[in-house]
Amino acid sequence: ILRDWSSDVCSSDLSKAPLTVCITGAAGQIGYALLPHICSGKTFGPDQPIKLHLLDLNIEGVQTALGGVKFELEDSTYPLLKDVVTTGDAKTAFTGADAVIMLGAFPRKDGMERKDLLEKNCGIFKEQGEYLNTVASKTVKVLVVGNPANTNALIASECAPNIPKENFSALTRLDHNRAVGQLALKAKAAVEDVTGCIIWGNHSSTQYPDINSATIKGASAKDTIKDDAWYTNEFIPCIQKRGAAIIAARKLSSALSAAQAISDHMHDWVLGTPAGKFVSMAVDSTGNPYGVADGLMYSFPVTCSGGKWTIVKDLPIGDFSQEKMKATEAELLEEKTMSFGILGK
Ligand code: NAD
Ligand code: LMR
Repeated sequence: ILRDWSSDVCSSDLSKAPLTVCITGAAGQIGYALLPHICSGKTFGPDQPIKLHLLDLNIEGVQTALGGVKFELEDSTYPLLKDVVTTGDAKTAFTGADAVIMLGAFPRKDGMERKDLLEKNCGIFKEQGEYLNTVASKTVKVLVVGNPANTNALIASECAPNIPKENFSALTRLDHNRAVGQLALKAKAAVEDVTGCIIWGNHSSTQYPDINSATIKGASAKDTIKDDAWYTNEFIPCIQKRGAAIIAARKLSSALSAAQAISDHMHDWVLGTPAGKFVSMAVDSTGNPYGVADGLMYSFPVTCSGGKWTIVKDLPIGDFSQEKMKATEAELLEEKTMSFGILGK
């Protein structure tokens, strides 16, 4: 089959004002996999010029590596890429940022308890939240990816009272995409025929991947698959532990799929979800329609339009789902108590 290249759109309007996109932890492996999505127009649109602010630790070797990434961006000659700033200073990185993708976090080391990890990251996200509060655009959209992503996002938001809470989010789109992928594999269906998967709660092994509202080619996914034991005993643990399985196999955490999910998350938030489709985003739970405690960064099914997310209402929640949603809520409440304790809030 010959591709008809002439039908492709080649006349993008590059006269739009550039969007300043800040990436923290940009010298790491997700940063390297994410930059092509952003610079090619896949994330923010094919006619959206970009200015990049790349932040990483103010350590000589790290800044040298970040400089190497800048060389490669120059060599890639992306038409949309108008400027690249590399820095070890968070204030410089966040200044005027319209979108901030926070990859930089303290990784879990051998023998570290969750409390130790929270302690390390509380400090980072408190400081970076305070900088965001003072120098970022007041309409900035923030996506936290660095783990523990939900609680890190909550801390950054708490420390940035000038920025509306709805402008902060944490990444559960990777878990959502994993659920779509596994369902498509099981049903031998195309991924684009699978809709309505939901990730509830925390980006951790307590998350609840829910397919009760999912459809495959418009028919109920559960009725199509007719295998509840697979759903309970294989699918749910697979999605909950997929990150760990990738670390075990690669000796590195997911990066290619994480970059894809980050791009999907920002794309849908900024440019809108397709009609009739919803996605999963961890967002402020305050006033949510599912009885989850207020004041958490909890993953819900959302639609996006005009740059704003809205939690999808009235989805069926049975006893099984209720129990799983409560378990992941309990973990987030515990993380919140611990981290607010560390911050003296
Ligand atoms: P990586 O270690 O390759 O890169 C992280 C980068 O962050 C490093 O370059 C490091 O120098 C930098 N960094 C650390 N502290 C910083 C700080 N205070 N300010 C600025 N930069 C800082 O890690 P990665 O594979 O790119 O993953 C990044 C994070 O994303 C990790 O926390 C990982 O656990 C998390 N993750 C989350 C998801 C998700 O779905 N939410 C998925 C995959 C990975
Ligand atoms: C993932 O889900 O792939 C990562 O969050 C795993 C991790 O712990 O870094």
